[in-house]
Amino acid sequence: MSTQPFETLSVAAGTSVEDAPLEVSVDTSAAAATAPTSGRPIGPTGRPMPVFPEPATLEKHGPARIVAMCNQKGGVGKTTTTINLGACLTEYGRRVLLVDFDPQGSLSVGLGINPNEIDRSVYNLLMDRDCKVEDVVLKSNIPGLDVLPSNIDLSAAEVQLVTEVAREQVLARVLAPAMADYDFIIIDCQPSLGLLTVNALTAAHGVIVPMECEFFALRGVAMLVETIQKVQERLNPVLEIDGLLATMYDSRTVHCREVLARLVEAFEDKVFHTAISRTVRFPETTVAGEPITTFATSSGGAYSYRQLAKEVLARCPAQ
Ligand SMILES: Nc1ncnc2c1ncn2[C@@H]1O[C@H](COP(=O)(O)OP(=O)(O)OP(=O)(O)O)[C@@H](O)[C@H]1O
Ligand SMILES: [Mg+2]
Repeated sequence: MSTQPFETLSVAAGTSVEDAPLEVSVDTSAAAATAPTSGRPIGPTGRPMPVFPEPATLEKHGPARIVAMCNQKGGVGKTTTTINLGACLTEYGRRVLLVDFDPQGSLSVGLGINPNEIDRSVYNLLMDRDCKVEDVVLKSNIPGLDVLPSNIDLSAAEVQLVTEVAREQVLARVLAPAMADYDFIIIDCQPSLGLLTVNALTAAHGVIVPMECEFFALRGVAMLVETIQKVQERLNPVLEIDGLLATMYDSRTVHCREVLARLVEAFEDKVFHTAISRTVRFPETTVAGEPITTFATSSGGAYSYRQLAKEVLARCPAQ
C-alpha cells in the first residue's frame, strides 16, 4: 500500500478530479481492453488483468473466513455484493452464511425473505443468551447459501449493546460456533461506523469495501481505513483489508476512470482487478428476490461477480 494514500487523495480533492484532463491514466477503450501488456489485456483498473485460477474443489468445509462488507457511505453496493459474491462462491462449492447486519433488512429482502415475517433475527442472536445460530438461520433458494436475517429490531441492539460487557465482541462470540460449518461468513454492514459495524469488524478476518467510482467515495474510504486501523490496534489484530471493489463502474465517464486510477495509486494491490459495471439488472434482481447468477445467469453482472469470487478465492488460498 502507498505510504501517503490520503495526501494523494486530498490533492485530487482540491484540484483535479472534477476538472480532470481528458488524457486520463486508465485507457478502457475497446482497443485497450484487448491490447496485450506483458501478454495480458488491461483491466478496468488500468493494470494487466490476471487470469484467476479455477477454484480448487474442497474436500471438507470450514473453518470459515469471516468477511465484513463495509462502507459507511450508503448505496454503494454492499448488499448487492454480499448477495452476489455469496451466490458465486456457492457455485464453486463453498458453503456460505450471509449475515444481514443492517436494520433495513435489505439483504433478507434481496433473497426473497420478508423481514416482517421472521420469528427470530440477528437481534435475538445478539441479545438473547439462549438463542443460537441454528435458531435463526434460514436456507435461501440457492443450495449452500444460508442467511441470518434481520429487521428493524436490530436498530435497538445498537443502543442496548452499549451496556454489555465486551460490547464490541458480541457478534464474534455468537458466530464462533458456526465457523466450522461454512467456508465463508459474509456480514452485510449498515451504512454507519457505529457499534454494530465495529462488532462486524471485530468478528471479521477481512474487510471488503465496495465503493462507487465518484469523488466523495475517496474521502469516505480514508475515514473507513482509519476505523479499520483502530479496530486492528485495539480489538482485532488479525483484521486486514481483503480488497476495495469498484462498483457501478462506467468506463465511458472520465470521472469514473479517474477516481479508479486514484484509488489504485493510493491502495495499489488492495484494489480488486474486478470492477462491477453499472447495470439496471441489479435493481431488477432485488425486486425478484434472487442473486443475478440465477436471475440473469449469463449477464455481464453475473460474469463480473463470478470473476470477483475467483479473485477472492485466489487471495484467500486456504478457503
Ligand atoms: N452495479 C450496479 N449497477 C446498478 N445498480 C446497482 C449496482 N449495484 C447496486 N445497485 C443498486 O444500487 C442500490 C444500492 O445498492 P445496495 O443496496 O447494494 O447498496 P448498499 O451499500 O448496501 O446500500 P445501504 O448503504 O443502504 O445498505 C440498489 O438499488 C441496487 O440494486
Ligand atoms: Mg445495504
